This record gives sequence, structure tokens and C-alpha cells, in this order.
Amino acid sequence: RNGLLTIPVVVHVVLNPADPAQNVSDAQIQSQIDVLNEDFRADNPDVAGVPPVWTDRVADCNIEFRLASQDPNGSPTDGITRTPSTVPFFTTELDDVKSSATGGADPWPSDDYLNMWVCNDLRDGIGRVILGYAQFPGGPPTTDGVVIASFCFGKGGTAQAPFDLGRTATHEIGHWLDLRHIWGDDRGSCSGSDMVDDTPNQADATFNSPAFPQISCNNGPDGNMFMNYMDYTDDAAMFMFTKGQSRRIDACLEGERASFLT
Ligand code: ARG
Ligand code: ZN
Ligand code: CA
Repeated sequence: RNGLLTIPVVVHVVLNPADPAQNVSDAQIQSQIDVLNEDFRADNPDVAGVPPVWTDRVADCNIEFRLASQDPNGSPTDGITRTPSTVPFFTTELDDVKSSATGGADPWPSDDYLNMWVCNDLRDGIGRVILGYAQFPGGPPTTDGVVIASFCFGKGGTAQAPFDLGRTATHEIGHWLDLRHIWGDDRGSCSGSDMVDDTPNQADATFNSPAFPQISCNNGPDGNMFMNYMDYTDDAAMFMFTKGQSRRIDACLEGERASFLT
């Protein structure tokens, strides 16, 4: 894939208007788009923190994001929908934020738009609070996109440390473009892979903000690439995609998500 690709985004804000503390402003939404435009171009200032041994692996993914200017009917839009909802929390299991029938908002056609839902409280199948989730390429169009909880969406407003730099959306859009977790989702066995050749084999997820290096799976001396967006470190501790990940994203854009190339 050659040149810069622009992906139109629609942000579906699904919140309870009776609770003003939940409000996500247009400025907070734009701050999230701005973060994506740094992170997917390696234009983020904190990329300077990549350990010198890995600076040559840093990728400019050549993708930019902009709020849609045309809605599915061809009418002008700001790329933001706002749906008042009294659903106390949404779940990954029900995917209920993605449908007006269940108190959420219906997607716009998933071959033309990246649908991004924002809600106040998001839970997994056993009720634990989560930051966000994504649908990998190849799934049903009616549920395609990413969901981000408002406490880790964009900068300012409802965003809360240590997830207040917009990196949850960077991570989830990585999944939406077919990237796997950097440790290969094998819960510490070293047998799993993210199917990317320039990310070190890594045993398990990394949390918080560790010091370099962190060794596992005989991957010394440099160890785990925990500063990669596809790990679980804090927002301030993740700041790179690799060239191998960028190639995997390109394969997705030339394959299952080819509708965005035209
Ligand atoms: N737990 C989420 C997932 O697996 C996202 C974690 C994002 N991490 C962050 N520092 N924002 O998709
Ligand atoms: Zn993830
Ligand atoms: Ca592993």
C-alpha cells in the first residue's frame, strides 16, 4: 500500500444526559482524533522514549483519521452522533451499545466508516470494568468498530489517569486493523504469537509503567517490547507500532478492509 490513507470516523456518544459529569464534549472527541493522527504516523512526541535498540523498528503506519463530513445519506455531518441512554452499563457480551434496540446507537455502514462508540461504563462477560474492545476484521457489519469507555477516551474532560492520553483507542483500532496482543494471548506460555516478525516473543501482558528491559521467553538482552501500543501498559508508557505491525495492517487494508482504499 502506497501513500497516506484517510479513514472517516463516526463517533457515537451514548451517555445519560441526567448525569452532567458524563458529558463528552466535541473538543474531547477531537483530542482523541488528534492522538490517533499522531500515533498512526509516529508523530507522537513520546516516540523519543523508544529504546535505541528498537528505534529502527518504529513505523509510520501512513493512516490518518478524520471525523466524517458526510453521513450515510450524503448530508453534511460533524461525524458525531449523540444518543441519550439510561442503560447503566454496556457489555462486550451483549454488544448492546451498538444497537438502538438495546439503548445504544446503530452503526453507520462499516465498509465506509470506522464506528467508534463511547459510553460511560463498559463491562466484560463477568461484570469487570474494561477500557475498551474491538471487533477484528471479518465479523458482522452490524457490530463492526471499537468501543471505548469515557474514562479512557481522548484527553481532558472525562479522561482519567493513567488512561488519559487517548491510547485505548489507538490499541483498539490496532485490533480493528487485525493486530493481536503483543504477547500472543497465550497467558505466559511463550508458545503464542502475534504473527508479527519484528516484535519479540513475550510471555504475558505488561501493566503499569515498567523500566526497560523486562525479560521473558529467553528474549534477552532487550526483552519485551512493552512500550508497544498492543501491550497493556499505561497510556504514558506505550508509544510505538513496529514496521511488521504496519505491514500486517496493510495486509488487512488490502484484504478484509479493502473498502477503505477506494
Ligand atoms: N484492555 C483493552 C483491550 O484488550 C485495552 C487496554 C488499553 N491500554 C491502555 N493503556 N489504554 O483491548
Ligand atoms: Zn486488546
Ligand atoms: Ca507469548
